[in-house]
Amino acid sequence: MEKEKDFKMIAKTIFGLEETLATELLRLGAKNIEEHNRAVSFEGDMGFMYKANLCLRTALRILVPFESFVVTDEQSLYDSIQKINWSDYMDVADTLAIDTVLNSELFTHSQYISQKAKDAIVDQFRLKFNERPSVDLDKPTIRINIHIYNDTCTVALDSSGESLHKRGYRDKTNLAPINEVLAAGLVLLSGWDKRTNFIDPMCGSGTIVIEAALIANNIPAGYFREDFGFQRWHKFMPFNEELWDLIFDSAVNKITDHQQTIIGGELSPNVTKKAKENIKLAKVDDVVQIRNCDMKDFEVPPGRGVVVINPPYGERMVKDNIDELYKMMGDTFKQKFSGYDCWILSSNIDALKNVGLRPSRKITLYNGQLECKFMKYEMYQGTKKIHKLEGREPGDRRQENGGGESL
Ligand SMILES: C[S@@+](CC[C@H](N)C(=O)[O-])C[C@H]1O[C@@H](n2cnc3c(N)ncnc32)[C@H](O)[C@@H]1O
Repeated sequence: MEKEKDFKMIAKTIFGLEETLATELLRLGAKNIEEHNRAVSFEGDMGFMYKANLCLRTALRILVPFESFVVTDEQSLYDSIQKINWSDYMDVADTLAIDTVLNSELFTHSQYISQKAKDAIVDQFRLKFNERPSVDLDKPTIRINIHIYNDTCTVALDSSGESLHKRGYRDKTNLAPINEVLAAGLVLLSGWDKRTNFIDPMCGSGTIVIEAALIANNIPAGYFREDFGFQRWHKFMPFNEELWDLIFDSAVNKITDHQQTIIGGELSPNVTKKAKENIKLAKVDDVVQIRNCDMKDFEVPPGRGVVVINPPYGERMVKDNIDELYKMMGDTFKQKFSGYDCWILSSNIDALKNVGLRPSRKITLYNGQLECKFMKYEMYQGTKKIHKLEGREPGDRRQENGGGESL
C-alpha cells in the first residue's frame, strides 16, 4: 500500500449512524463510499486517513484492511495469519494488541481468536529472531483488527488506536455519560442548522451540548486527542509528521467563532458542576451555558431552535415517576418550545407514550447494548398552529401554546 495512492478503509460506527457517517465522509472528500451494518467503507490516501481520524464525528475507529482469507477452523486461522509477513508491519521490539469481531458460526469466543492470532504472530518472530514482540493493550505499536464474517477473515490495522469517541476533552471521573459519537450523531440527525438555538434541558455531564458546540464552530472532533494509533506506525505507512501537521493546521484554520445560543439544563447541582467543568475542558464555555434547573422551569430563549434530550430511561426509577417525567417533557414542549424541533432518545418505549405527542420521525439507534428510539416532535408556530386552533373544540386547550400534534 503506497501512501500517495488511494486504498480501502472501513469506518466503524454505532447502529443507526451509518448514513450520517457516509454523509460526513462525502463532505470530507472520501471516494467509493458504501454503507454497511455499523460501518462505512471508503477510499482515500494516507493524508485522508489522518483527516478521517481527526475530523469524523460519527466514526468509532478507522480500519485499514490488508489481508483477507477463508477460515475453516482455529488451525487454518493460525496458518493464514502466519503466512502474513509481519515484519512488514512491526519489529520484534514493537508491541501489538488484537481486537476480534466475530460474525460467524465457526467461532464463538473472540478473545480466544485474538489469542490464537497473537500466537501465530509471535511464533513467526520467534522462529526468525529467537525473540518475540510483547502485547500492550493500551498503546501498542500496531493494533490489529480481526473480523470473521461467516468463513471470511479480514485482517486490518486499526489506525485510530483508542476509540474515537474518546475525544480527549472529558474529565475521566464521569458518571454514565452518553457516548460522544452517539451525542454528535444525535445533533447531526436533528438537522440543527447551527444558527438557531440548541438546547439539552437534561444535559447531565454536557456531552450533547459540547458536541453541538464543536459542530457549530467546526472544531475537529479529534482536536483534543493527544494520540492516534497511526502516529506509532513506522514500518507500514510510517507516520509522516509533516503531513499530519499540515492536515491538523488546515482543519484548525477552518474553526469559526460563531455565537450561537447553546444551553444545557440539569436538575442535579453536582452533575451541573460536572457539566460546567466539562465545557471548560472542551474550551466551549464561551459558547455553551449550563443552568441548574428543572426542565419544567427552563426559561426558553426567544426564537426557534432544536431540543435534544437523552433523559433517564427509568432503570433506577419507579414506573409512576418515569411516566410522570416523560409526561412533563411533552407538556413542557407544548407550553414553552413552540417553534422548536424537539427530539428524545430513549429505550423506554412505554415511557415515551407519556410524552403525549405524535412524533413526526422515529429513528432506531443503539445506546450501548440498548435499542433506542430517537423521536422527533415538531412544535409548530404560526400558520400550522392557527390551522390547528381553528379545528379545535371549545375548551380544548391542547394546542394553546403552539405544539406538535397531541395524541
Ligand atoms: C441520562 S442522563 C443524561 C446524560 C447526558 N446525556 C450526558 O452525556 O452526561 C439524564 C439526566 O437528566 C437529569 N434530569 C432528570 N430529571 C430532570 C429534570 N426534571 N430536569 C432537568 N434534568 C433532569 C438527570 O439528573 C441526569 O443527569
